[in-house]
Amino acid sequence: MTRRVYIETYGCQMNVADTELMLGVLGRDGYEATDDPAAADLMLVNTCAVRDNAEQRVVGRMGELKRYKRPGVVLGVVGCMAQRLGQRLLDDAPHVDLVIGPDGYRALPELVGSARDGRRAADTAFKSWEHYEDVPPARTDRVGAFVTVQRGCDYRCTFCIVPMTRGRERSRKLEDVVTEVGTLAAQGVTEVTLLGQTVNSYHDGHHDFADLLRAVGAVAGIRRLRFTSPYPTDFTDRVVAALAAVPAVCEHVHLPVQSGSSDLLKRMGRRYSRDDYLDVVGRLRAAIPGLGLTTDIIVGFPGETDADFDATESLVREVGFDDAYTFKYSPREGTGALRLPDAVPDAVAGARIERLIATVRDVARRRNVRLVGSTHEVLVEKVARRGGLLQSRTRNNKVVLVAGPSDWIGSYRRVRLTGTTGSTFTGMPEPSGRELAVVG
Ligand code: 5AD
Repeated sequence: MTRRVYIETYGCQMNVADTELMLGVLGRDGYEATDDPAAADLMLVNTCAVRDNAEQRVVGRMGELKRYKRPGVVLGVVGCMAQRLGQRLLDDAPHVDLVIGPDGYRALPELVGSARDGRRAADTAFKSWEHYEDVPPARTDRVGAFVTVQRGCDYRCTFCIVPMTRGRERSRKLEDVVTEVGTLAAQGVTEVTLLGQTVNSYHDGHHDFADLLRAVGAVAGIRRLRFTSPYPTDFTDRVVAALAAVPAVCEHVHLPVQSGSSDLLKRMGRRYSRDDYLDVVGRLRAAIPGLGLTTDIIVGFPGETDADFDATESLVREVGFDDAYTFKYSPREGTGALRLPDAVPDAVAGARIERLIATVRDVARRRNVRLVGSTHEVLVEKVARRGGLLQSRTRNNKVVLVAGPSDWIGSYRRVRLTGTTGSTFTGMPEPSGRELAVVG
């Protein structure tokens, strides 16, 4: 009898990749994926723990999924919130049967089986060797693929829960990554995004991130190579040289800065100052013409003064980010920042984040308006959510909506940017909508 699994995924791209891994593990055990919770024998929620509101959303969602529990249906919480709370989740939520952290997915079939027999279980043991190397992820996207190259994190940013939820940093062997990417290319995938918490600190004992970029970029059929998220001070000269030299590497770096104030960066346990960050940006821009730069910023971190916040705003203008994700600081259990004095009142943090969002939008809009009229290679990704258009993306990560038939999905086109909302673009295929030849 075929069983059906329904998985909801929250949080980062690594969770998206982990969901594909879980579908791979369960697929070997005879499960089929469904997008209807009412039809599922197993419901899993793959969670994020990085901010409290991410967890609250999951708590709410679990309450709703409870409705679909018929006898024999198993409801599980997996991912970072599962790792963080472990047994506590089972104690507090009687409708939850199963709690599994990011290193425990190999045991899903057994744990689901015992949960079905009434034995609720929490598995949150760290396995520092676990890369799920023998598990082929069940991917649905035929255009692009996420490939996890590093798991865990050894940095200790004082705001961040991830080292507590994903364990020690370890890298997959370069050869294993290259083999996986080769398989993807053979299936027609042309864009690969390498994933790791501090992905450019990748080191498998023999090869660093520069070696990895060169090796993956050399796989026949891979036309676009992306990676996320790098850590600013891990851009060695070797890595920057590889970014510039490998044709597949796209001209976009997501480079989380967190704050523009050196004082605050120190309190955050970041390993760079404002000037160090600007220096990295300068080196990247000098090496990679047309580079798109995006970032993450936290406001309202303990001790953030008006002057610290002004420094963040001025950094946004000085760098000229193409976009930024902005977050209000959320205190996380077990992190170093809990011991820091001078909490920022919520109203102050709220006002600051609104001002920052306006600044980010203004900076991005000015940059984007200047791009209207220019021509770019885009990869057509999917049908856009609105307007019957297709969503495509430039190498430097700009989203461009184009009119075209759905069989353009997966193809490369040249488009002229005809307008911008300030963040996304409309584009006109040229010349006469011809597909660009596959090279390399
Ligand atoms: N509060 C708010 N934002 C956080 N981030 C990580 N931890 C926290 C926290 N405790 C943000 C950082 C990180 C992004 C993924 O989430 O900006 O880069």
